[in-house]
Amino acid sequence: MGDPRLLAVAEPVRQFGTAELASLVADMRDTMRDLNGAGLAAPQIGVGLRVVIFGMDHNPRYPEADPVPFTVLINPVLAPVGDDMEDGWEGCLSVPGMRGVVPRYKHLRYAGVDADGQPLDRTVSNFHARVVQHEVDHLDGILYPRRIRDLTQFGFTEALFPDEEIVDD
Ligand code: NI
Repeated sequence: MGDPRLLAVAEPVRQFGTAELASLVADMRDTMRDLNGAGLAAPQIGVGLRVVIFGMDHNPRYPEADPVPFTVLINPVLAPVGDDMEDGWEGCLSVPGMRGVVPRYKHLRYAGVDADGQPLDRTVSNFHARVVQHEVDHLDGILYPRRIRDLTQFGFTEALFPDEEIVDD
């Protein structure tokens, strides 16, 4: 947080199935796994392209959350399904050691393509919907602290959750 690349609007990907794109996705996947992230956006590793990845089985950073399939999502388009919003705790690998309560749409349809340009179109809810909204915000230069409505619900993970075994960087 503070790096201007995290505040920029990322550019669409125009060529698919390239070695360059495969290598970007592989780098992102390694970074996300090393840091136990639930998702990662290309601007977080300094690449200003509209590429996000997300997915997790059981994640020690989010011990309560349901699994989300590993997904590469490029040039995403999001559409909320209904008006329901839900508050939930979020963290971010670009804001290490902190958590905040962020309102997100509870139900979401998202579309885009994978690294080979194959289309993807899903309607999801709850944590899956939250992760996608968080990651796609990165492509528009938005970090989750800007979405927090009540700053009393923002702080250091170990202070907020002293009794929980949350692994955090
Ligand atoms: Ni993030």
